[in-house]
Amino acid sequence: MLEKQLEYIKSKTDFRPDIALVLGSGLGDFADEADIKAVIDYADIPGFPVSTAPSHRGRLILGHIGNANVAIMQGRVHLYEGYSPRSVVSPVFLMKALGAEILFLTNAAGGINKNFSAGDFMVIEDHISSFVPSPLIGENNDDLGPRFPDMSEVYSKRLNKIIVKTATEIGIDIKKGVYVQLTGPAFETKSEIKMCSALGADAVGMSTAIEAQAAKYCGLEVCAVSCISNLACGLTDKILSAAEVEETACKTAPRFRELIKKSVERICNE
Ligand code: HPA
Repeated sequence: MLEKQLEYIKSKTDFRPDIALVLGSGLGDFADEADIKAVIDYADIPGFPVSTAPSHRGRLILGHIGNANVAIMQGRVHLYEGYSPRSVVSPVFLMKALGAEILFLTNAAGGINKNFSAGDFMVIEDHISSFVPSPLIGENNDDLGPRFPDMSEVYSKRLNKIIVKTATEIGIDIKKGVYVQLTGPAFETKSEIKMCSALGADAVGMSTAIEAQAAKYCGLEVCAVSCISNLACGLTDKILSAAEVEETACKTAPRFRELIKKSVERICNE
């Protein structure tokens, strides 16, 4: 399937990305920042998983941000949509096959760390993916990566430094922390959040960790930033809703866009 997908994209454009960027909730219109060279609907890519989540638009946009050649994934699929872990990460392998060397992931997440507020950004330093099935289960494709890949540094210290420096320069007090991925689609219970907190997680979400795991496995350099769209269950009296997540994600979108854009520009200039 990967070959077919690659063939299809090559038949549309010879654009070769350096960085692949996955846009999470609220960042859907980030592509306005790019000098666009090609737009491909996910639905037209053979076997490509098509997103059903709110505000995940389902387009691959190829273009320039500053000096960077970027493949922007406008929307992703999640385990809770019913896709297998392998399908969820298949776009990561396609990005690698297209020539990308870096995967930059973004998401909206619930804040667990008591020092976080809704509207904060967190650079992901590590993750806990033990509650979701690994996308690497099954026969290994040795051409993609090793059977037992090392995960001691999934998120690149080099890239994280660039993101933190960029954030500081534009006046964002960026947080750092550990992201835990759960399957969703239900938000967590108070006890589950207590458990995640006891395990060392600073933020919780329904994506990202398995994409990062797959990317590390196939040799991509990885970084990820969460927009803390709400405080996790039990940290406030509020009832959680997708509407609240979307609302905060949209409110913070201009700052998030600026942070991602400037970080991408800097990554390509260093
Ligand atoms: N929990 C899980 N996923 C999320 C949350 C949350 O509180 N906020 C945004 N995505």
